[in-house]
Amino acid sequence: MLRHETIEKNVILLAVLTLITVSIGGLVQIIPLFTIETTIERVEGVRPYSPLELAGRNIYIREGCYVCHSQMVRPFRDELERYGHYSLAAESMYDRPFQWGSKRTGPDLARVGGKYSNEWHYQHLIDPRSVVPESIMPPYAFLVRPLKFDDIEKHMRALQRLGVPYTDEMIANARADLVAQANPDADTTGLLARYPKAVVGDFDRNTRVVTEMDALIAYLQMLGTLVNFAEVTPQQLRQ
Ligand code: HEC
Repeated sequence: MLRHETIEKNVILLAVLTLITVSIGGLVQIIPLFTIETTIERVEGVRPYSPLELAGRNIYIREGCYVCHSQMVRPFRDELERYGHYSLAAESMYDRPFQWGSKRTGPDLARVGGKYSNEWHYQHLIDPRSVVPESIMPPYAFLVRPLKFDDIEKHMRALQRLGVPYTDEMIANARADLVAQANPDADTTGLLARYPKAVVGDFDRNTRVVTEMDALIAYLQMLGTLVNFAEVTPQQLRQ
């Protein structure tokens, strides 16, 4: 029988045995994944982003909000009590790139949708310390400027190519849907049929122009709201 000392003193033997051990561990983790069809839970409700939400998400990424905010509630008791149900793979299946993150200078935002009013988000983004005095979040008042969205179809087409199920009808109506979502007086029947649960609102008290602020708040307000967890069965989560 080989003694431990022999292995430790022979670099090549140690390397070979380490490799074998690590490979066994790897295979045990990887092989079962080939026997299942998908690792994404089959839950109802997850849909592609509406054009306004998509524009908001692009601003979220451009402004580097992910530097301070994660978007993944982990399955630990303290997280569940603070943020709600842990995040499902299904909830970020249309995210390219995903925003899970690991840095939390500020709180996780995966379930921030519906937690505050549109007005609160507006005030908070204009001047975080006016609503949360001890906040160290920078102000984003400059986002109250016209949103450039003449390229929104291109963003949707690119995502469609990557497998996000945007239909040609969704892309054809992109600009109209984008404008309608930021105007509570608009006819939103088509928008809501294409994007159920989209939050319609005058997010920045200005219905004349669609601003970057409108887009960002529309995005924040839908985060984590698509899956109705009251209807999810344990089977759906277990695969
Ligand atoms: C320098 C780090 C930092 C950056 C960058 C940052 N935040 Fe924050 N954020 C915080 C901190 C800290 C808090 C907690 C205090 C507060 O509510 O202001 C917070 C809170 C929030 C909240 C409230 C969350 C809750 O559940 O109460 C939202 C929403 C938010 N941030 C959105 C954003 C968005 C959108 C951006 C990008 C435009 C952004 N943040 C950029 C640090 C940051």
